[in-house]
Amino acid sequence: MRLQNKVAIVTGAGAGIGQATAEVFGEEGAKVLVADVDGKTAEETARKIQNKGGTARFLQADISKEDEARRIADTAAEAFGGVHILVNNAAVFVLKGFDATVEDWQRSLGVNVIGTSMVTKYAVEHMKKSGGGAIVNLASISSFVAQPNFFAYSATKAAILQLTRNMAMDLAPFNIRVNCVCPGTILTAASRRHMESVGMTFEQFNDEEGAKTFLKRVGQPREVAYPILFLASEEASYITGTSLMIDGGYTAQ
Ligand SMILES: NC(=O)c1ccc[n+]([C@@H]2O[C@H](COP(=O)([O-])OP(=O)(O)OC[C@H]3O[C@@H](n4cnc5c(N)ncnc54)[C@H](O)[C@@H]3O)[C@@H](O)[C@H]2O)c1
Repeated sequence: MRLQNKVAIVTGAGAGIGQATAEVFGEEGAKVLVADVDGKTAEETARKIQNKGGTARFLQADISKEDEARRIADTAAEAFGGVHILVNNAAVFVLKGFDATVEDWQRSLGVNVIGTSMVTKYAVEHMKKSGGGAIVNLASISSFVAQPNFFAYSATKAAILQLTRNMAMDLAPFNIRVNCVCPGTILTAASRRHMESVGMTFEQFNDEEGAKTFLKRVGQPREVAYPILFLASEEASYITGTSLMIDGGYTAQ
């Protein structure tokens, strides 16, 4: 088991990529704090991990509120005796261009950028006491390529890419590695909501989004969770400050 005796926090772990990551971490022996603004789904993820013999706790918390971001870090440390791994996965999808209002921008930046920074700030305090750690941020293909009417979301994901580099530089002296993964289109609650909003079936969505990739299909949450596991594990001990595309070839053409 690759994460035996490690304590991991996964934000937004009630659904999608975060849920798959928390489950894979549980299977690999980590003690997982499952944090989500939706307490019900967080509880379900924690129960799934426990039912498979893993160790997990859930916490209802909104990462965009500083006191709740701090509570995520402190709860993991108190429950499991330290923090070694943080996966900054929670995000909102404000898929808008010039139609984005100031409130839309504030929400998008507040959760995706400021919330991520706040959880990291407080988790790092515990990682330092544990002698080091690994952080994996969720960036996106949207950090690199333009997509129509994506200003508010893409700006936050480009920020995550640069935050990853800056954090990696500042945290290296503390033996904390920081990397990000950049998924393409992955089949999650978020992409299902998008499908519904544009009136597409899964088949239509898979054909249209899949056509933009070499592999001719969208990805599954576990196909992102395993690369996150790798970056969080000791196998990636000389990797920091970098980004890993998980996009079926989307950005390679
Ligand atoms: N699905 C994709 O195609 C895709 C592609 C590229 C990048 N990503 C990134 O992967 C991550 C996960 O995406 P997903 O598709 O699994 O999303 P999702 O919407 O399916 O799940 C996100 C989870 O985050 C939680 N969340 C939202 N705001 C929160 C807050 N303020 N505090 C705590 N929890 C909060 C939600 O309740 C939800 O459970 C995001 O960072 C996203 O930007 C996703």
